[in-house]
Amino acid sequence: MKHVLPILVAACLLAACTRPAAVLRSPDGQITLTATVDADGTASYSAAYRGETVILPSHLGFLLQDGTDLSRFRLAGFSRDSHDDTWEQPWGERRLVRNHYNELTMHLTPTNSPTEGEPCRVNIVFRAFDDGIAFRYEVSNSLPYGEERGGVVITDELTEFRLPWNAEAWSGPTNHTNFLEALWTKSPLSEKDTVATPLTIEVRDDLYMAIHEANLTDYASLDIAPLKPDFAAAEPSSAVTLKAALVPWSDGTLVKTRLPFVSPWRTLLIADKPGDLITSYMELNLNEPCRINNTAWIEPGRYIGIWWGMHMKDYTWEIGPKHGATTANTMRYIDFAAAHGFKGVLVEGWNKGWEGDWTRIDDHFKYTEAYPDYDIDSLCRYARERGVRIIAHTETGGAVENFEQQMDSAFAFYHRLGINAVKTGYVNPKHDGREWQRSQYGVEHYRRVVETAARYEIMIDNHEPAMPTGLRRTWPNLMTGEGVRGQEWNAWNASGGNPPYHTCVLPFTRGLAGPMDFTPVIFNFTNKVLPDVHPESTIAKQLAEFLILYSPLQMAADMIENMEGQPGLSFVESCPTTWEETRVLSAKIGEYILEARKVRDDWQPQGSEPGPGSWFVAGITNEEARKFTLPLDFLDDDATYTATIYSDGTGADYQANPYPLDITTRTVNSRSFLDLHLARSGGVAIRIAKQ
Ligand code: NOJ
Ligand code: CA
Repeated sequence: MKHVLPILVAACLLAACTRPAAVLRSPDGQITLTATVDADGTASYSAAYRGETVILPSHLGFLLQDGTDLSRFRLAGFSRDSHDDTWEQPWGERRLVRNHYNELTMHLTPTNSPTEGEPCRVNIVFRAFDDGIAFRYEVSNSLPYGEERGGVVITDELTEFRLPWNAEAWSGPTNHTNFLEALWTKSPLSEKDTVATPLTIEVRDDLYMAIHEANLTDYASLDIAPLKPDFAAAEPSSAVTLKAALVPWSDGTLVKTRLPFVSPWRTLLIADKPGDLITSYMELNLNEPCRINNTAWIEPGRYIGIWWGMHMKDYTWEIGPKHGATTANTMRYIDFAAAHGFKGVLVEGWNKGWEGDWTRIDDHFKYTEAYPDYDIDSLCRYARERGVRIIAHTETGGAVENFEQQMDSAFAFYHRLGINAVKTGYVNPKHDGREWQRSQYGVEHYRRVVETAARYEIMIDNHEPAMPTGLRRTWPNLMTGEGVRGQEWNAWNASGGNPPYHTCVLPFTRGLAGPMDFTPVIFNFTNKVLPDVHPESTIAKQLAEFLILYSPLQMAADMIENMEGQPGLSFVESCPTTWEETRVLSAKIGEYILEARKVRDDWQPQGSEPGPGSWFVAGITNEEARKFTLPLDFLDDDATYTATIYSDGTGADYQANPYPLDITTRTVNSRSFLDLHLARSGGVAIRIAKQ
């Protein structure tokens, strides 16, 4: 239980406890964190896992624009807290999440404060969980200094992660690439450029770590850069210092804030197996509890869309002879959705503004005005009568101010029509032509969208977002997003589709941050425009990705004429998008992953969905074929199940012939084993329905 010392006792403890260092242990005692103020006033922390140093003493602090140096301190004392409770997610990879940690706060007074006024007070709050550590800064004072927004301007965050090894790590794209849509690459930490987080570190076969952040609020996104070289004495020569590098405003400053403020949490996951990174919920635990009182309107589910047709150039977004978002075409998609158990139909290109260069920054996009060949009122009614919802699309082309001016009236309009999900888009590296998407400007905009949407009972799918940081706990209408090199690259990337290893990396990297709207499931790999560009996978892998690349709003991306009559579609039709629990059964980053998800105990199955107690399992591999013998020992001991296995058929191969798909059925129980064969860049998808 949460336990807070009465203020008086805390004050006494503070006065008495001015040792320069304090140790914090995780609840299971395996992780220890030491917080220190050195003789020169530098605040630092270090960490060990099972007695082995995993973080060398690493500096903490800030520099402010007015010259305030928040990096040299006098220690006022330490205080402690602890917490253990379990909360329920409205949707997710796991229904019940335990939030169990010990906390240590280091109370500091800066030694070099502004010439006038009361000095800032800085608390650094550390938490140790069984699966990692986190810390954040709380900066305050008692006088009006800096109360105006912009009164405090951060010009550098000094946070470091100093690692004893120059380990291999998977890093994602940075400001040097657009939209977080580059491939993740593996290289030694010292060779990294400035990289986005999560940064997933492969120390050894039995030690993995990931650096990221949680609860990114009123602040800039965290990037990480190695300081080179690190010749600090008395340290292993292989030590690498990684330092925070926040995404700046266009004026070069990092964060414009006021006192008091708290930073986002800086997080470090520590795991024996790569799969344990995936099943860590620490970053959700570091976000505030749900702020939406009644979440009944938040509906995870499967969707299709008038989408791939545009990327294949069969349709256009703008009105014209090939317009995709026509009334007649949308009715076809609604009919298909109703017949095949999809809750949503995404329609892109329905609203005015797509003519010409739609990424120009002005007010050409209208969010309440449909093209004349798209009868939005009758389509929404038509959908509702069939148990389907239209998902609206609001591409901004980066013109954020234009979107914000219309946002309230647009969301009110959608709500009246019964639209309960919106896919937002920002195809322009800079918001309003000025600010990076991941800067504080972008971060604050994305939050206004989510909070406004919540008022109108609208779920958000945020394309070209900032990296997620667990805000879905607080705002569970923030369902999913991009910030991932998704299926669309398999349509138009002139140098070829996403390589086979790509989706074997994503669960351990981008996936650690939150749900991904990757949009799996293409059945027809014909590309009339770029014949050599198509998904670099088999059909079975496309199906498996529907389970493995987690998204509570999960799209089957192909055009409906390509999905009609496909035997593999029956897997998608039966597969929920929210789970009782998730287990990673076997994995190697970039090579393969086998994952199992259990149907929620409170699940009310529809159509061909199996009931509570059932499981879904999927596996994918890179360009190497693989065999697995899978024990089904996670099933209940006293139950019998029907396993339907969608696997690569004879001759399946991502290059030679991606299409062969076998579907077999077996009766199984907890003592059964399944022999699985995955083709090159193949997969397997299994429904294990409890009888
Ligand atoms: C990029 C998005 O990721 C894609 O899904 C969308 O179709 C286009 N922008 C157009 O908005
Ligand atoms: Ca995109």
